Amino acid sequence: MKIFKNISELKDVLFKERSAGKSVGFVPTMGALHKGHVSLVEKAVGENGIVVVSIFVNPTQFNDKTDLKNYPRTPKKDIEMLEKAGAHYIFMPDEHEMYPEPDTRQFNFGLLEKVMEGAHRPGHFNGVAQVVSKLFYIVEPHRAYFGQKDFQQLAIIRQMVKQLNLAVEIISCPIVREPDGLAMSSRNLLLEPEVREAAPIIYKTLAEASGKVNYLSVNELAVWVEENINKNPYLSVEYFSLADSSTLQPVEKWSDSSSIIGCIAVKAGKIRLIDNAFFK
Ligand code: PAJ
Repeated sequence: MKIFKNISELKDVLFKERSAGKSVGFVPTMGALHKGHVSLVEKAVGENGIVVVSIFVNPTQFNDKTDLKNYPRTPKKDIEMLEKAGAHYIFMPDEHEMYPEPDTRQFNFGLLEKVMEGAHRPGHFNGVAQVVSKLFYIVEPHRAYFGQKDFQQLAIIRQMVKQLNLAVEIISCPIVREPDGLAMSSRNLLLEPEVREAAPIIYKTLAEASGKVNYLSVNELAVWVEENINKNPYLSVEYFSLADSSTLQPVEKWSDSSSIIGCIAVKAGKIRLIDNAFFK
């Protein structure tokens, strides 16, 4: 495994790999890696000749400066995990390498970015699209791997790939959870012990709620989910949206869509967590 900080050196090596007929799989991350990230890397290793993983805490997608400052950074452990998972190249640029000058590009993802994370984190998806498009131009992967944990991000990336006519296949990977059900997240490292203990209620509630679709209306179910989570003193629901899984627009009735996903953001102590589950 080799580590690159420099764009042109990485591009040179990947040019040679592609010329030798190797397919390139790519997993973009912000580090503080856990088994969720590793599952993406392992899938990429199984499907490609060469696997590149990027670790870059992208400032342009943080709408909250304290969140950026506090974002966990564990580079040594990350490198060990990636070596074990079988990655070939790690790309760890610094901020100046990625943004020698400010990225002024403005993406427009229409209704897709008007809901959920897009509505609650202004500028977040523009920043994600800025960095992921740059990374795609640098790595030129055949396939790129994203987790369903960030369900809206996946939809945005697919839309971006269409808008920019990029020749990359976007592969979506299932959510990896802790044994108690909490979706793995780098931010889990920041939870105070009592908040960490409360956090599994989020997924337990989603799982229990998905069994209630036959006898509660969409609205009743949403109220039940919010109340059930807010009962806990450490948890506070920011939003819970039952939405069509392709357009991400909220549904009013169960019959409005053939595939409905419930996406949630919860403030757990000072930390913001997201999760989702299919309801139909
Ligand atoms: P990060 O939060 O580090 O996540 C990197 C990838 O890992 C994303 O595709 C995310 O969905 C996936 N992932 C995170 N937790 C997961 C879990 N529990 N199960 C499965 N997959 C999981 O998402 C980002 O970074 C950034 O926005 C990025 C795309 C790198 C752009 O900066």
